[in-house]
Amino acid sequence: PLISSTAMLQAARKNKYAVGAFNVHTLEMLQAVVEAAAETQSPLIIQSTVGTVKHLGPDYIAAAATVAANRTGLPIALHLDHCTDFPLIVQCIRAGYTSVMIDASMHPFEENVERTRKVMEVAAAAGVNVEAELGKVGGVEDDIVVDERDALLADPEECKLFIERTGVFTLAPAIGTAHGIYKGDPNIDFARIERIASLVEQPLVLHGGSGIPAEQVKKAVALGMAKMNIATELRIAFSDAIKDIFKAHPEENDPRKYMVPAKDAVKRLAIEKMELCGCIGKA
Ligand code: 13P
Ligand code: ZN
Ligand code: NA
Repeated sequence: PLISSTAMLQAARKNKYAVGAFNVHTLEMLQAVVEAAAETQSPLIIQSTVGTVKHLGPDYIAAAATVAANRTGLPIALHLDHCTDFPLIVQCIRAGYTSVMIDASMHPFEENVERTRKVMEVAAAAGVNVEAELGKVGGVEDDIVVDERDALLADPEECKLFIERTGVFTLAPAIGTAHGIYKGDPNIDFARIERIASLVEQPLVLHGGSGIPAEQVKKAVALGMAKMNIATELRIAFSDAIKDIFKAHPEENDPRKYMVPAKDAVKRLAIEKMELCGCIGKA
């Protein structure tokens, strides 16, 4: 069965590695990250955004992820990424999600606390992990668009207070990364990660994983980031492989052929990211 991501992330935080959390949009993408985890004996978080939940249906996604967990015997959690909508969170938990993110980071602190607490009430009772966000991660993720000027770094003291007030198991503090590919290098505030990690013992989540240089990922993980989210790079790898096939073979019409290199590309990239996270062999 699928498991909650709480214990696997606590183990990661304690032992200074991160679990790769991969946003998937198709069955082949899901199978690709599962094969990557199986081949490397890594713990795995399969994620879907609200847009993907609406596209595929939470029950279809949960069914596929459950098959993956049962077949491989690996520690696999299924996570709902960046959700602002309470009823949808409840729906996903009912469908079998074992981890959910309530993203109320666009609201003032007190309202973020209230909205997160409300999710904690339903999720904790179901043994489901809860992730919340403080500060605002820049860039575009589904319908959540945060202009560079409106991106806001998380305040370390507020992180501590937020955990005390909500009891949330996992925290995503904005520390300078952004969703999507960076123009140039990201501007990660490592001192801030260190400060937050010194005040908060909960696993921290690194959003905006696509495009972060390898050394910076390793540094962020060493400082306490216990989950790394990767979305955009996987989509690009998947789509580029399909584009290449159709460029070379415009007449191709068999998904069982053109999906194969796309799946392989996602699998290879997921293994690379798992190496950076240091989670290989930790299943
Ligand atoms: P990227 O699209 O930059 O990989 O960000 C992923 C993410 O944070 C999903 O929540
Ligand atoms: Zn994110
Ligand atoms: Na990014």
